[in-house]
Amino acid sequence: MSVALSNIFSPHDAANLINCGRVIAFPTETVYGLGADSTNSAAVAELFAIKGRPSSNPIIVHTNSVDRLSESVLLGSKTEASELDKRVATLSTLWPGPLTIVLKKAPTIVNNVTNGATLVGIRIPAHPLALEFLSLCNNSVAAPSANRSNRVSPTNAQHVRDEFGDDFPVLDGGDCGIGIESTVVEPREDGVIIHRPGFIAPEQIASLAGPLISKETDSNFGQTVSPGQLALHYAPTTPCYLLSNLPSGLRRVAVLALASDIKQVQADFPPTWRVTTFKSTIEYAAWLYRSLRDVDRAGDVDAIAVLPPSPTGLGLAICDRLSRATHR
Ligand code: TXA
Ligand code: MG
Repeated sequence: MSVALSNIFSPHDAANLINCGRVIAFPTETVYGLGADSTNSAAVAELFAIKGRPSSNPIIVHTNSVDRLSESVLLGSKTEASELDKRVATLSTLWPGPLTIVLKKAPTIVNNVTNGATLVGIRIPAHPLALEFLSLCNNSVAAPSANRSNRVSPTNAQHVRDEFGDDFPVLDGGDCGIGIESTVVEPREDGVIIHRPGFIAPEQIASLAGPLISKETDSNFGQTVSPGQLALHYAPTTPCYLLSNLPSGLRRVAVLALASDIKQVQADFPPTWRVTTFKSTIEYAAWLYRSLRDVDRAGDVDAIAVLPPSPTGLGLAICDRLSRATHR
């Protein structure tokens, strides 16, 4: 089979590479993914090695249609639906979209995708090029964000090349519209656990399929807690602080904040500080990773100072990423 190895290739070329056991990057509406065939353990092992990801951190699998879910996960009966099945059905109305649902893994998904766990996260992304590419793949595609472990997630093809080199195969779908990762949920008989806050707000998950079960009170805590949620993550190379913890005396600082939150204090900043403001949490999410990467690339400030929005709705996911990016 002949496949294009240049940087510019089609969904068809990208799918051919995946079907041959290669690792490639592809766009989604949230962030770019680093994909491998989820039924090929050598390809998945190669993916972990390229990303530098600890094997304990499970990977989300991606497919293009609810009709293909049973290739990757075990679904309940439609005629005698349990509370869990009903929750899965309501949550899956958010697909295609920025939601990952943790379900029972089908035996075809190789064990290194989930580090041997019986549950796997699955998602149908809402990006036309991703859906076309996934429809041409023989199996679902295991894909973490296409950045080296712990670094800032990529939201365009150049970001992926900055991570893995100019020759790395990337299906180029332009800038990601959403810019922050999917919400990872695990439906249960008695409610839903949010493993990772994301673009879909907890309030929306609760109203669709609640109640929310807090991870702390979950009796299986420790077994099902999202293993990838490391304290330091999404970190730029420029030192990054919460504005409230910024060391004094720094001359050149890049500040990121919601316009409505910063107005009062901005007048007091030294003239050497550069302030980037966002009109809404949607804009904050869309520009966050790109802004962090732009500061790293320019290399012209001593530190980044971020002002988190209030932790409700989409603000919760932004606060989660900012607390990890600034962890020390
Ligand atoms: O938007 C997204 O979700 C992007 C795009 C590419 O789809 N993917 C992504 O993958 O962010 P990644 O690997 O960077 O983050 C996935 C997180 C893991 O850190 C882990 O915490 C959680 O999802 N996760 C994955 N599988 C899980 C499982 N079986 N149980 C609990 N949490 C899981
Ligand atoms: Mg990631």
